Amino acid sequence: MKNRGYYGDFGGAYLPEILVATFDELEARFEQIKQDPNFWKTYVALMSSYSCRPTPLTFAQNLTDHFGGAKIYIKREDLNHTGAHKLNNVMGQGLLVQKMGKKRVIAETGAGQHGVACATMAAKFGFDCTIYMGEVDVIRQRPNVFWMEQLGATVVPVTDGTRILKDAINEAFRDWVSHMDTTHYVLGTACGPHPFPEMVTYFQSIIGLEARRQILEIEGRLPKRVYACVGGGSNAMGLFSGFSNDPVELVGVEAGGRGLSTGLHASRLKSDDASPGIAQGYKTYFLQDDDGQMKETHSISAGLDYVGVSPILADMHDKGLARFESATDDEVIAALKLTMQKEGIIPALESSHAFALAFKEAPGLSKEDIIIINQSGRGDKDIFTVADAFDDPKWKEFIRTKAEQYHA
Ligand SMILES: Cc1ncc(COP(=O)(O)O)c(C=O)c1O
Repeated sequence: MKNRGYYGDFGGAYLPEILVATFDELEARFEQIKQDPNFWKTYVALMSSYSCRPTPLTFAQNLTDHFGGAKIYIKREDLNHTGAHKLNNVMGQGLLVQKMGKKRVIAETGAGQHGVACATMAAKFGFDCTIYMGEVDVIRQRPNVFWMEQLGATVVPVTDGTRILKDAINEAFRDWVSHMDTTHYVLGTACGPHPFPEMVTYFQSIIGLEARRQILEIEGRLPKRVYACVGGGSNAMGLFSGFSNDPVELVGVEAGGRGLSTGLHASRLKSDDASPGIAQGYKTYFLQDDDGQMKETHSISAGLDYVGVSPILADMHDKGLARFESATDDEVIAALKLTMQKEGIIPALESSHAFALAFKEAPGLSKEDIIIINQSGRGDKDIFTVADAFDDPKWKEFIRTKAEQYHA
């Protein structure tokens, strides 16, 4: 264990001896690029030519009128290439991999957005790519699996444990231990051993830096609150980074699943079901039982369905630097529907958690107040889950016809 990368009581790097040298190298390289202003310029230039950055900050006039309270702005990470904020982190790590001279990348993915982003980056930079994905997520995010494979990645369904994100992370670490010399593990969120939480936050901070500049340009003042959904915590850390020195309330929204009282959720910071522990190389709040066994989690959104949470957010939670709430699956579906109907925008199910809470709170704020919701991704990938939730008869008929075609 190394005594570094701590945020209050959380974080650290609890590593098997065999990975220590690899992490030392990664940390040293990351420190180097942080000191090099040209690296950030190269990164921003790459993101603007390849990934539509800066992403817009959209004023949601119709939603604002509908709720009659705060002015609602939406930070449009859905317009990033590959449809989510995940590409910000992945392209940054890709540049780092080039500097390290490695030729193979591996990644874990839940919703599949990070996997698609990673496969995209690997195609662009010419790396070999293997993606680990829990078998359950492979089934619920099939379109993303299809694209990862077409982009040239090998997708490995993980059949251990509960077959979701945490199991995919374990498998990716197993691979890394055997191939450290040639391979970099592109961790997809602000979790894991140091330096990943800091490094992922560093690349995602582009969201908050842009959003702050944009709102000052448009409104000439800061928002009262900013909202982001919290899976591992990378889009939230990205948005929060832009406002952490301002008098702005930072609000993280976790997956409330079927309701916190049911135990069927993935709320580490809002619910009382999580406790501090060490797993997957770092210390944070985990949804675990008294024996340290990880509990099953549930969320309608694969990307928020994770037992741990960024150690940086865990520390902010304990210090009262950010507020954490949750939104249930039903609230999320209602928020998604309203956003589509009022604004013509389809947020990812993950992002819809942030929308759901913002919608609950916006009417209680004054018309002078401004809020920003981070739309971390677009909802196209969720078509199967959402069509089920809407119980759409025409969609069912379409699926039935397709199935019949395959069996004919
Ligand atoms: C669109 C989208 N938003 C949010 C998340 C949650 O991740 P994080 O908390 O790291 O932003 C995911 C994860 O897959 C995602 O795909």
